Amino acid sequence: MSKLLHIQSSPRRNRSYSTAVAKHFIHSYRVTHPEDDIETLDLWSFKLPEFDGATIEAKYRILHGQTFGPAEASAWDDVLTIVHRFKSAHKYLFSVPMWNFGIPYRLKHFLDVIVQPGQTFNFSPESGYTGLLTDRRAVIVCSRGGEYSSAPELQALDFQKPYLRTVLGFIGIADVQEILVEPTLTTPDVLESSLEDAKAMAADLAGIF
Ligand SMILES: Cc1cc2nc3c(=O)[nH]c(=O)nc-3n(C[C@H](O)[C@H](O)[C@H](O)COP(=O)(O)O)c2cc1C
Repeated sequence: MSKLLHIQSSPRRNRSYSTAVAKHFIHSYRVTHPEDDIETLDLWSFKLPEFDGATIEAKYRILHGQTFGPAEASAWDDVLTIVHRFKSAHKYLFSVPMWNFGIPYRLKHFLDVIVQPGQTFNFSPESGYTGLLTDRRAVIVCSRGGEYSSAPELQALDFQKPYLRTVLGFIGIADVQEILVEPTLTTPDVLESSLEDAKAMAADLAGIF
């Protein structure tokens, strides 16, 4: 039995296109993987630990091979709660709107919390950085108001999809499939067509994920 974790990063809930496509994926996934657990983490429904003060000091102490004081130990417990929830899954489904060419700040915050030495990557001066989640895989559903796929000058503006691939690769998740929903800020017929394509791809991918 596997666990699929859906990380939902649009606050638009029922109006969100990335969420709608992810829900379509989950609907198909349930049919093809009836024995699996599926959990959704709505990043707008709970408070993430601030990544400052003792928390950031704890991260640097780990990187420098130093021990924690009481403040770092307590701050790190809050980080580990989120990290363990993330690592309890074997497969990830990220639904992500493009915000100002990148990702919503709540997802960036979540990634800042889970990308941690000794948990999702290792570091040593001798061997550098090693991602630890090499046995996991991910699907990313990226929605954007505009269209960023057709020409190199448009692709160069896309800091959403390449950033997600980079940070997931950094923690060892190299097997990443993508579903684009673009453009969404367009005429109703173009929008309907891009949604249909994205949902069809989601259903196909869910069957083999
Ligand atoms: C704060 C904010 C910033 C946005 N920035 C961009 C952008 O840089 N490029 C773009 O094409 N669309 C941008 N959009 C539009 C969204 O990407 C688009 O509406 C998308 O469908 C939102 O995904 P959702 O429906 O899952 O929430 C932005 C929307 C918001 C709310």
